[in-house]
Amino acid sequence: MKLIYGLLSASLLASAVVSADTAKIAFPGEYKSTFTNYLSLDRTLNADQTIRLFANETAMQGADADGKLPYGSVLVAEIYKAKKDADGNVIVSSLDRRLRGDFALIAVMERREGFNEGIPAALQNDDWDFATFTPAGEPAKKDLNTCRACHAPLTSSNHLFSYDHLK
Ligand code: HEC
Repeated sequence: MKLIYGLLSASLLASAVVSADTAKIAFPGEYKSTFTNYLSLDRTLNADQTIRLFANETAMQGADADGKLPYGSVLVAEIYKAKKDADGNVIVSSLDRRLRGDFALIAVMERREGFNEGIPAALQNDDWDFATFTPAGEPAKKDLNTCRACHAPLTSSNHLFSYDHLK
């Protein structure tokens, strides 16, 4: 009985988190024309990807006095596969940088009051939440708890890796 209850509550928790995921963040379709491309680089933790980062006007204001980006901040990450040679090795340019290949995924972070709700404490990111979309802007199915888990420990940079670039 205890086991069944445990399984049930785990699945209820999962479905609550999943349904919140689908509803919370809408695709920021205007990002290409209105956001600022504040950083582009070879991904630091993914050896075969590159990334381009965009921020809306609110996020470009940088952190408030409390060290956090204002509510309404939206960040978009365009993730690309790095080009590979015939042997499957990542090609690097004469600048020692990867070459941008296929556009793989759009990863979004948005900070809104109440976005922590329904998310287990260890996976909370101070009202930032996460979403993924295909390059065409359709929802892409990813386990958003992996996003939350990797960004959550960054408490001194408001859960952002590129925090210093947004000041
Ligand atoms: C294993 C760690 C890890 C996971 C998992 C992860 N990220 Fe990140 N994320 C990073 C790193 C590192 C950067 C900085 C750019 C880079 O080097 O790729 C980043 C940058 C970002 C940014 C730009 C803002 C910032 O923090 O600099 C967004 C938006 C983002 N990730 C969204 C997501 C989404 C959505 C997911 C889940 C699908 C996700 N991330 C999963 C490590 C992670």
